[in-house]
Amino acid sequence: MTAHLAMIVGSVRRGRKAPSPARWVYERISADPRFTVEVLDLVDWALPADLSGGATTDAFADRIAAADGFVIVTPEYNHGYPAALKNAIDTVKRPWYAKPVGFVSYGGWGGGIRAVEQLRQVVAEVHMVDVRQSVAIRDLGARSGAGAPEAGGGAPGHPDEAAESDHLDAMLDQLDWWATVLSAARRDLPYPGSRRRR
Ligand SMILES: Cc1cc2nc3c(=O)[nH]c(=O)nc-3n(C[C@H](O)[C@H](O)[C@H](O)COP(=O)(O)O)c2cc1C
Repeated sequence: MTAHLAMIVGSVRRGRKAPSPARWVYERISADPRFTVEVLDLVDWALPADLSGGATTDAFADRIAAADGFVIVTPEYNHGYPAALKNAIDTVKRPWYAKPVGFVSYGGWGGGIRAVEQLRQVVAEVHMVDVRQSVAIRDLGARSGAGAPEAGGGAPGHPDEAAESDHLDAMLDQLDWWATVLSAARRDLPYPGSRRRR
């Protein structure tokens, strides 16, 4: 099967670096015949922070429901993840259930790994399956100075590039396995509590 992935871009910060790693990940997934991919860039989704619902929430829930799995691209803010990303996860409930998620993080020397470790706890609460392999892009700010259009995550010639590339390959292998297995399982046997829309 071809797994349909939603790639969620978690930073909405003005002047954000997110487009650089997000573009790298998107290009890799869209060149992979195992997947189709759509981008859900949270900067484009005015999801109400009071969780009051509405047309935008409904449309977002539909996009999540249509996906077989997720890639979350997130920076690290104060050893956590962005508030907009938590709001997006909290906005929907059942459409996340029994679907795999892989993480690509970026930040300073830690590469955003603390944000990812926290996210693993959060996604478990909405019954997602977090894949073991993640991708951590270290020191993104130093790589992508002004005028460096494609730097960060696979920046040509950067010493971390090979490891980042290998880690993304491994993450996509695991995501493909889980997406294939869980899609079939959800079809054959509805996941407990998943029948209601939201
Ligand atoms: C409010 C804030 C807090 C941050 N805290 C951390 C941190 O705890 N660890 C880290 O590695 N980088 C931290 N950074 C650096 C960001 O990871 C880095 O600026 C990254 O580019 C932010 O992603 P964005 O540009 O897509 O918003 C922080 C940045 C901001 C704006």
